[in-house]
Amino acid sequence: MSQTIQAVRGMNDILPDEAEAWEQFEELIRDWLSAYGYRPIRMPIVEPTPLFKRAIGEVTDIVEKEMYSFEDALNGELLTLRPEGTASCVRAAIQHKMLFAGPQRLYYHGPMYRHERPQKGRYRQFHQVGVEALGFEGPDVDAEHILMCARLWDDLGLEDISLELNSLGSSEERARHREALIAYLERHQEALDEDGRRRLYTNPLRILDTKNPALQALVEAAPRLVDYLGEDSLRHFEGVQVVLKDAGIPFRINPRLVRGLDYYNRTVFEWVTTRLGAQGTICAGGRYDGLIEQLGGRPAPAAGFAMGVERILALWQESGGEPERVAPEVYVVHSGEAAGRLAFRAAEALRGHGFATVLHCGGGSFKSQMKKADASGAPFALVIGDDEAAAGEVTLKPMRGGEQRRVSLDELAPALAEQLFAVDGDDGGL
Ligand code: HAM
Repeated sequence: MSQTIQAVRGMNDILPDEAEAWEQFEELIRDWLSAYGYRPIRMPIVEPTPLFKRAIGEVTDIVEKEMYSFEDALNGELLTLRPEGTASCVRAAIQHKMLFAGPQRLYYHGPMYRHERPQKGRYRQFHQVGVEALGFEGPDVDAEHILMCARLWDDLGLEDISLELNSLGSSEERARHREALIAYLERHQEALDEDGRRRLYTNPLRILDTKNPALQALVEAAPRLVDYLGEDSLRHFEGVQVVLKDAGIPFRINPRLVRGLDYYNRTVFEWVTTRLGAQGTICAGGRYDGLIEQLGGRPAPAAGFAMGVERILALWQESGGEPERVAPEVYVVHSGEAAGRLAFRAAEALRGHGFATVLHCGGGSFKSQMKKADASGAPFALVIGDDEAAAGEVTLKPMRGGEQRRVSLDELAPALAEQLFAVDGDDGGL
């Protein structure tokens, strides 16, 4: 026998029990997003590599070492599996001149790809729900995003989540802070680690985000961006905080929150939990006023965020969120050729009336078929044997006790609706 082939490391199969929870989550997400007026957009999974280099920044972990990039074997074009959705969403908005129709509230969800070291909560294929508000300038939309998240955590019953907030100011303010930061780090160059020395002139802000314990004291004492923010940036930041306070959403200002993508300015935020171990950031985002212009669009402000679906679902489960089991309403068992043909007709008739119906396939004794019916979780079995087939009738059998009933095909749907109503107060869709 040849060796079995396994999935790519860090890329997971989502098996039916789990996939049903995903679908319930996706349904909930759709309602939540439309409650805030966000509309769906779907972008390709593969984009030209320069899109991500320009948007995310050349000197970022993602672009330097995590992108799945390859050359199109047919025309030599450099392509990349998307590591995130903001760049693609902005590209699509520019390409289709969406902002000519006014500001846009958009969302997307789907797989993203980063060649990271896999561990619990960190995968090479993972999924995001991303939200982007293009063409909005004020702090109101930043606050709206945070309020939206808070409502979702509440709807899902998630526990132990906290909000970290910072402002990265404008590019001019960051430039002045950068100068001061480089001067400070130059004075302490011998204390920096390899990553720090490499980033000293390319991305010194990221050094502040280091996890290296040996650098913590150095980083603590470094010039703080907040001291370089001008009046407009401070007012914007204040505007966000006012809404959060009004809404009663607790937050912590974390001056070292800088984010791993270069396009951000002003408000940035992360939702973190202590319940998931090292990969505790479940959702993150902020404002990116320069990105649309940087990607060739007419200058327009924007803000957004994305959540990691695997992490949210893990936390949902941790917090006791039980997704409902999805079961059919009827399982059809049958024996004999004529019964098999009638079973097809009966099952289709039921589906035509909106009942979720599983037709037993593959034969077997009535006893073994009834075991399958039981395992399916369906509240009713439809039993069709020689007798029923000869009379053109079917037997409707409640699986959890109660009288069985023999009915004609025409009577079947109303009879089932009536019995389902008796079981769970549902009107059976009729
Ligand atoms: P990000 O912080 O890179 O931001 O990713 C957002 C979220 O995706 C993270 O907080 C985390 O929950 C999840 N995530 C990231 N990498 C992984 C991974 N390897 N495995 C599992 N989950 C992961 C962005 O991607 C920005 N595009 C967010 C944004 C939208 N900003 C403005 N608009």
